[in-house]
Amino acid sequence: MNPETNPMNSDAPLRVMLGERSYDIRFYHGNLAQLALDLRLFCPERALVVSNETIWAIHGCALSEALTLAEIDATVVHIGDGERHKTLQTASMVYDRLIEGRFSRRTCVIAFGGGVVGDLAGFVAATYMRGVDFVQIPTTVLAMVDSSVGGKTGVDHPLGKNMIGAFYQPRTVCIDFSLLRSLDEHNKRGGFAEIIKYGVIWDPKFFAWLEENIEDALGLEQGAVHHAVRVSCEAKARVVAQDEREGGLRAILNYGHTFAHAIESLGEYKERQYHGQAVSIGMVAAAEVAVRMDMAPSEDASRIRNLLARAGLPTSIPRDLEPAQIIDRMASDKKVVSGRLRFVLPSRIGKVEIRDDVPVDLLTAVIRDLRA
Ligand code: GLY
Repeated sequence: MNPETNPMNSDAPLRVMLGERSYDIRFYHGNLAQLALDLRLFCPERALVVSNETIWAIHGCALSEALTLAEIDATVVHIGDGERHKTLQTASMVYDRLIEGRFSRRTCVIAFGGGVVGDLAGFVAATYMRGVDFVQIPTTVLAMVDSSVGGKTGVDHPLGKNMIGAFYQPRTVCIDFSLLRSLDEHNKRGGFAEIIKYGVIWDPKFFAWLEENIEDALGLEQGAVHHAVRVSCEAKARVVAQDEREGGLRAILNYGHTFAHAIESLGEYKERQYHGQAVSIGMVAAAEVAVRMDMAPSEDASRIRNLLARAGLPTSIPRDLEPAQIIDRMASDKKVVSGRLRFVLPSRIGKVEIRDDVPVDLLTAVIRDLRA
């Protein structure tokens, strides 16, 4: 990677500016020992580490050893691996461990895993004894650049995803890039859909940088992956700092997600939990809608599609999904406002608009033409 295209690649912590709830995102390269030492500040008494058996089997010994060396008195609880375990029952099992173990108000909950672990552990921290401290050690690309930053915590309900939750900011987020080496290809590439998203919605220079460096970043080349994750976190931090509770601007983070949630809930993406892959298709579809609404040049939609394809992400809608099915499912999404479908549409690379006036005929044509 050309270092000149990489002026921001720094190990300095990145501050998320939220007044008295401000916190740092810290970066490490295979240094769980230092990470654990830095966590001491947030663990004045005991800590409860929430993880799952899959991640713990790979990295558990190393984290335990680092916490012990840092003299953090930690107990570990495992939750099941996968979105279907992000429930109130699982949260209740974690509360049982906290109450039976007599964990006090000064407990720190440490989330060690991907988005499910982070969302659930954060929700438990937000609610146990009306709120205890919480830190995140994300282990997937998606969790590093999206779910661990910005304070959305919660669990799913049988009637909808993330229906029960709280905005609750962590005290810090510690990102160690070495944890990504154990990630499977699909998970890793899925996380890159969210990274590319930040280029489209916020930062055209970053998008151009990704066009030059996507292979190095996907190959986890140290400088490239650090830059990709750091700039993504910075974009998210800036958006969240302006609109923590999604009253307006934060909704731009949902670019690609209106289509994605419908595709996920209808098809194989749900079963296999390929959220990022569904977001990739959704970003292509939203860019195509923008072109057909005469909002955006078709070259920009092509650049978005090409970059996603180069990242090994899908860019077509599965053929077995009918346009009407997808549109019906979008209409039942919890983000629908006053019965109107809302889309985040790129007007050019680096800028998006939120629109609720996309004609159904146009939507149907886009979906039909993107099926393959
Ligand atoms: N994942 C979207 C958000 O944090 O607002």
